[in-house]
Amino acid sequence: MGAKKAAIASDHGGLDLKAMLKADLESKGVTVLDLGTHGPESVDYPDFAYQMADVLKSGQAQIGILLCGTGIGISIAANRYAHIRAALVHDGFGAKMARAHNDANVLVMGGRVIGPEIARDCLEIFLSTPFEGGRHGRRVDKLGMKGGT
Ligand code: RB5
Repeated sequence: MGAKKAAIASDHGGLDLKAMLKADLESKGVTVLDLGTHGPESVDYPDFAYQMADVLKSGQAQIGILLCGTGIGISIAANRYAHIRAALVHDGFGAKMARAHNDANVLVMGGRVIGPEIARDCLEIFLSTPFEGGRHGRRVDKLGMKGGT
């Protein structure tokens, strides 16, 4: 993906996974903007998804990694923004397709559902897989926010 800067954020349910993935990224020379949470206290996952949306919008980071207990809540929150395509992923194939077909700019995983080595695998694949474009570009273009009726 050729990411220049990555942002990472989690609630308390993704805290340990965040620490591990952040260290992995930094060891590969990736600059990581850590948006918290920074301790084990219970916090609200939407707050971290919204911070992620802000830093991607402003260009402070080009890709994001979001983590909560299941990955579900934080992905729902992040996908409320039109400029976010957050993909909740559980394996390498999902990570590959999230980039190749969906042009996802945020990788989401659940700290209470995914093991550390699978999570590492997902992140590595997510970072190295390009968007295929073509017919997938047409579909991604159709993902604008729909108004409620
Ligand atoms: C927090 O207990 C938990 O609900 C949260 O991490 C996440 O799993 C929500 O979707």
